[in-house]
Amino acid sequence: MSVELCGMQLAHPVINGSGTFDAIAAERVFGTELIELFPFSAYVSKTITLRAREGNPPPRLWEAPAGLINSIGLPNRGLDAYLAEDLPRLARLPVPLITNVMGSTAEELAELAGACETRPQIAAIELNVSCPNVKTGLDIGSDPEQLHGVTRAVRRRTGKPLIVKLTPNAADVPACAQAAQDGGADAVSLINTLRAAALRPGDRRPWLGGGTGGLSGPAIRAVALAQVAAVAARVSIPIVGMGGIQCAEHAREMIAAGADIVAVGTESFRDPTVAAQIAAQLREPVASP
Ligand SMILES: Cc1cc2nc3c(=O)[nH]c(=O)nc-3n(C[C@H](O)[C@H](O)[C@H](O)COP(=O)(O)O)c2cc1C
Repeated sequence: MSVELCGMQLAHPVINGSGTFDAIAAERVFGTELIELFPFSAYVSKTITLRAREGNPPPRLWEAPAGLINSIGLPNRGLDAYLAEDLPRLARLPVPLITNVMGSTAEELAELAGACETRPQIAAIELNVSCPNVKTGLDIGSDPEQLHGVTRAVRRRTGKPLIVKLTPNAADVPACAQAAQDGGADAVSLINTLRAAALRPGDRRPWLGGGTGGLSGPAIRAVALAQVAAVAARVSIPIVGMGGIQCAEHAREMIAAGADIVAVGTESFRDPTVAAQIAAQLREPVASP
């Protein structure tokens, strides 16, 4: 069952989607047992930015049929607080730590990667490129040229495994994956949430404080399968597949589509132990069809 991802030895092929499992809060709420029986084989932090962000005003969540729209807005206390306060706690987890970072320019992302590079507790870096470039206004991750430049800039600053988390909100996702690979990424992960909106019942004004949000959960699984398959046909680096995975069969399908390992996101809100159940079921032999 153990798998290797970019040189990291993982006990099984199920990790978490960034921002969907707060390991520090989980220890506070569920006690050390959940941490000792940690459901994921590597832990991906929520997105960290150079400076602190408050996130979006409430409401931040909308339950859609078979999915969730979130407009959290990546609140975090910034790089320095992450390194000083969160990192020592996350380093106690019994699995490799992947730090997810986001910036609105190549320089910002390179600075974040450079800071991670100096910390042995960080096993790998995931780049969240679902962010508008402050200069061009274009989403960094939806434009292959920009994505290539950003990945190269980050690559120069770190020898740690580099995973580029692709956005599904792009005209040509395989071209973006190719750009990440050519820029020096060691792996790609996909899919992030799909841009979505919800209207308030009654006056039909935007429900979410941030205006729009990102759709996740079962509603996006078919999209994720298609995008993972298209990316697998294009690149040779490993793929972390995610989007709507709820059970072992969904994980098997994602792997059949081309993913090397999978990540569980929204489903962990319903049951924080679901990833452990999926990993256990993946160990069981599959009945032939
Ligand atoms: C509440 C919430 C917060 C998220 N926060 C982040 C984040 O901080 N960084 C990131 O790269 N992705 C974030 N995501 C996206 C997930 O990591 C994942 O890519 C997406 O939800 C698809 O997987 P799922 O359908 O299993 O949730 C978030 C998703 C949700 C639902």
